Parts: sequence; structure tokens; C-alpha cells
Amino acid sequence: MSVAAVLTAAGSGSRLGHALPKAVVPVAGAPLVAHAARALLAARAADGARVTALVVTAPAEHVAAVTAALAGVGVPDVPVRVVVGGATRQASVAAGLAALPPDVDVVLVHDAARAFAPPALVARVVDAVRAGHDAVVPGLPVVDTVKRVAAWDAGGGPVLDTPPRDVLRAVQTPQGFARDVLVHAHAVGAHRAGDEATAASDDAGLVEAAGGRVWVVPGDERAAKITTPRDVVLAEALHAAPVPGGTP
Ligand code: CTP
Ligand code: MG
Repeated sequence: MSVAAVLTAAGSGSRLGHALPKAVVPVAGAPLVAHAARALLAARAADGARVTALVVTAPAEHVAAVTAALAGVGVPDVPVRVVVGGATRQASVAAGLAALPPDVDVVLVHDAARAFAPPALVARVVDAVRAGHDAVVPGLPVVDTVKRVAAWDAGGGPVLDTPPRDVLRAVQTPQGFARDVLVHAHAVGAHRAGDEATAASDDAGLVEAAGGRVWVVPGDERAAKITTPRDVVLAEALHAAPVPGGTP
């Protein structure tokens, strides 16, 4: 089995508020997309499998910047392609999938915004796909009580209900898939891709919507998404201090 990765880096990073697209913003000494690509390429599955092709999505007007941010990240024999993403994350992943080489049967989809996901997490996801799960997501228990709120309007809204917390998982990337399952799910959900209001926020959601089954493996706090300036401060601090009991 051969493993490829689509690394999404085509967002603007509007909530980060930086002049550059989020993926090329330097954090802990390198652009976010470079950290993320390094982890994908460093991961080794239990049977030694590794990522053998990497496709990175970039904003149309920043392909050169993303390409430059990836300089020096590549490893021998692993092609790295930068392609133009789409209007939504879903559309960007679809563009990345279309650029994968033919001889790939496992696909990881990872967000450059989760730049510090460790190689061990990548490997855990690949292992679960290779063990027979069609779609695999890393997830962490939810610490907050979560409410479903109806008709949010003018700064408030009525609570519908409170899902039991023990069954909730906050999911991360990389997410891993049998390639045919992911391609099928994107084809079924393609009509949703053009608009943020309808687009899937993760790929496993597309698999679920297409009737597929998704398996959750333990996530990793280091794979937290960098969204706001506060997240950058946290990531810099955590990068400087090793996680107690953490694995590389
Ligand atoms: N992404 C993408 N194409 C898009 C939108 C997002 O490839 N059209 C990628 C981002 O680059 C990021 C990941 O999807 O790595 C998760 O998106 P998010 O954290 O929302 O990043 P941005 O969309 O860039 O940020 P914001 O929503 O604050 O503008
Ligand atoms: Mg976004």
C-alpha cells in the first residue's frame, strides 16, 4: 500500500489577521506549512510505510510563497506538488486529491494550521487505515460542556439540549482514508464545496454523509489548530517546552 498526503494551506488566515496567508506565517522558526510537511514526511507506520507523495494547496495568488516556504522540507524520492486551492477547505482538498499520483491507496488530509501534529500521530492514523478502517480521525475528549443552540440571533439563542460529554470527541487532522472512499465522498458532496455555508469542515464528515463509517483514534494536544494570534503565542511556548510524557 502506498500513502500520499494532501496538506491544506490555501486559506487566508483571516482570524489570525496577518498580512501573509496563515500557512506561510513563521512560528517557532519556520512557516506553519513547513512544520506540517516535515511531520508528514517524518512519520513511519508500524510496518515502515511512509508518505511517498505530498500535494500542498495554496491560495492562487500565493503559490510562489507557499513553494518558497517548503524549500528544504522535501526528502529524496518524495515529490512535493503545490496546487491552487479552492474557495473552501473542501474545494481545496478536492483540488489536492485530483493532483495525487495514480499509484496511491491511502490518503492523509492534514491542515497546515495543525502544524505541530507530531509524526507519531500521523503514524497512528496510517496504522488504523492499514488495519482496515476506511476513514480514520484523531479525536480528543471534550473538556467543556457542549450545548446545542437553536436560532442564534442578536448575541444569544435558546439551548436545544446538552449532548452527553463522554461520547464527544473534538477531531483533528491528519485524517486518513482509503483513497477510493475519500474520492467517492468528495464526488458525492461536490455540490457543497463552493460555499462556506454548505462546505464540509472536515473530510470525515463527507464520508459520513456518503454513508461511510469513520473510526476515531486518540488525538494529540500538539495537533491543536492555530486559528488566532493567541494560538501562535501558545504554540511558540509549547514548542519551546517539551510536553511532559509526550512522544516525539
Ligand atoms: N484551507 C484551504 N482552503 C481554503 C480554506 C482553508 O486549504 N479555501 C486550509 C487552511 O489553509 C488551513 C485549513 O484549511 O490549513 C483549516 O482552515 P482554517 O484554520 O479555517 O484556516 P483559514 O481558512 O486560513 O483561516 P480563517 O478561517 O481564519 O480565514
Ligand atoms: Mg477557514
